[in-house]
Order: sequence, then C-alpha cells, then structure tokens
Amino acid sequence: MTPLYVRRDGFVWWLGLNRPDKRNALDEVLVAAIESVLAEARLAPSVLIFYSTTPGIFASGADIAELRERDADAALRAINAGLFERLEAHRWPTIALVDGPALGGGCELALACDFRLASECAVFGQPELSLGILAGAGGNWRLAQLTGLATARRMLYTGARLDAGAAQAAGLVDEITDDLTGRGAALAATIARRSWRALELTKLALRSQRPATTTFDIAAQALLFESADKYERMTAFLERRTR
Ligand code: COA
Repeated sequence: MTPLYVRRDGFVWWLGLNRPDKRNALDEVLVAAIESVLAEARLAPSVLIFYSTTPGIFASGADIAELRERDADAALRAINAGLFERLEAHRWPTIALVDGPALGGGCELALACDFRLASECAVFGQPELSLGILAGAGGNWRLAQLTGLATARRMLYTGARLDAGAAQAAGLVDEITDDLTGRGAALAATIARRSWRALELTKLALRSQRPATTTFDIAAQALLFESADKYERMTAFLERRTR
C-alpha cells in the first residue's frame, strides 16, 4: 500500500497521507515519498494540498517505532526537520487540510504549510516532551511564530492540545469548514488566478520573516535521541503502558 496518494488535477497536487493503521505516522518511506513530490513539483507552478485519505485524522507525528531506534546521527540527518524546511521553502503555496489530530510531526507538517484549513474534528498538539524528545522539526519556533509565545509555551511545555476553534483563535488555523476538499480547491483556485512569478517572489520575500533556523533544535534532538528516558517513554507508548 502506498503511504502517499499523489493525484494531479490541473495546477493542484493532492497529496493523501495514507497509513491509516498507524494514523498517518511519518516513517522514512512516507517522508521520502513527500520529498520526491517536492522535487518534482518545484519544476512548474502548482499548489500542493496535503490531506488524509482516512477521515478523522491528519497525522500522528513521526513514527515512534522508528524514532525509538534513531540515534544522534539520525537526528543530525534531520529527516523530518529537513523535509519541513524544504516544504516551507517550496516555490509555490502549500495547504494542509486537517480533519483530526495533527500531533507532533503531524502538527509540524501542517505548520510548515502556508495555509491550514481545519474541520471541527481538528486537534493540534506537540506531545514530544512526554516522549523524552523535543519538537525539533520546526514546532519550537514555527508554532511561536504563528500563535505567539504564550500559546506555544503552553502547547510545548504542558502538551496542551488545541481544538479547531482554539487553534483558529490562536492563529494556527485559517478557516474552519465542513468542506475541506472544496474549500482547499477554492483557495488553490484563487491563488492560481494570480501571477505565479509574483507569488513565488512574494513567498521568497516572506521568508525574511523567519525568526530562527532549526539548527539548535537538530543538535538538541541529537542529545535527546540517545537518552534512556526517550527509549523508555517510546517503548511505553508502543506497548500502550501509558494510555
Ligand atoms: N508512530 C507510530 N505508531 C503510531 C503513532 C506514531 N506517531 N501514532 C499511532 N500509532 C499507531 C499505534 O501504535 C497503533 O498501532 P497498533 O494498532 O499496531 O497498536 C495505531 O497507530 C493506532 O493508534 P491508536 O492510538 O490506537 O489510535 P487512536 O485513533 O486511538 O489515537 C492518536 C490516534 C493519533 C491520538 C494516537 O495514536 C496518538 O496519540 N499517537 C501518538 C501521537 C504522538 O505522540 N506523536 C508524537 C510523535 S513525535
């Protein structure tokens, strides 16, 4: 089963996260599939729309079974952090359609997109600290950039999750709708009526608003990836001792 459905419809690339049995956890195969689309999609103007092929979920984050085994070297390879850097830097706009939990790397995937549309089922959270790691793929700063430090602190330190309404109030969600596909397509169509070249240059211009890089986060994650605490906490998740 392919972990990423890719369908091109005119100028829109529909990218369906498709690991329903693992709640769309981002393993290396899925990350590589998204990387491959990014490389191809940068050749011609388009809008990328991420969604889940399964209703009621967006993505449950990095694959904890893989994460548990990753060491400092893997952290320094910046598997998810690198993907989200390239996604954020994609030449043309990107949209996330969030219809359920967007947790950890799932939230960071949505944060790296230009727009987030949510259904009433959407939930945003960064549970990394309860797994002994940090939100090292952009959560530490993209979240603060969108929501302000107060909300980012609450979500990162305490694991607080925002429902769709709270996320919209915090600036994390652009629109709440019960027609994610239709509204996503409409937003893409509005964008596509404008000048692709001017859009690309505007996106480049807005990159100067970036407050930080993920360099520190990647190094800190390398430290945490080798801790016994992380291994124990992830094992507890996988064995369901904590839930
Ligand atoms: N990585 C790997 N596997 C994951 C996963 C993840 N991030 N999230 C869920 N899964 C797996 C579960 O282990 C379970 O596998 P199993 O059927 O082989 O036991 C399966 O997906 C279903 O998960 P379950 O928790 O039963 O689904 P749910 O619908 O009750 O809850 C979530 C969905 C997303 C709320 C819940 O799975 C969850 O909290 N996931 C972890 C989120 C997280 O901590 N992410 C941060 C990663 S850095």
